[in-house]
Amino acid sequence: MALAEKLVAGPSGDFPEGKIIAKRIAGKDVILIRRQGVVQCYVDECTHQPVKLSEFGEVIGGHLVCHAHGGTFDLDNKGKVICDPPYDALTGFICDEVSGQVSVFI
Ligand code: FES
Repeated sequence: MALAEKLVAGPSGDFPEGKIIAKRIAGKDVILIRRQGVVQCYVDECTHQPVKLSEFGEVIGGHLVCHAHGGTFDLDNKGKVICDPPYDALTGFICDEVSGQVSVFI
């Protein structure tokens, strides 16, 4: 397994609280969401079907809801499923925010 590489996602101001920001980093489509001040990063695909969460997703409180079929993921618990039909948690990446810059280990 290859070690993750730390890559810049953008300046802190690009990631406002509760918004889904889509990026392509190292050839991967990801979404970044600031939740209670901390940026999280996940693969931009629902784990139910190959639907982009940047298009079908919405942050509601601490949840990411996929409006394709109502699947809901817990942003306060590493993207675990709290409402099916998905079974699997979101695939996440470690984020880091230092000196006004957000990076992702990908
Ligand atoms: S594709 Fe997301 S809940 Fe079905």
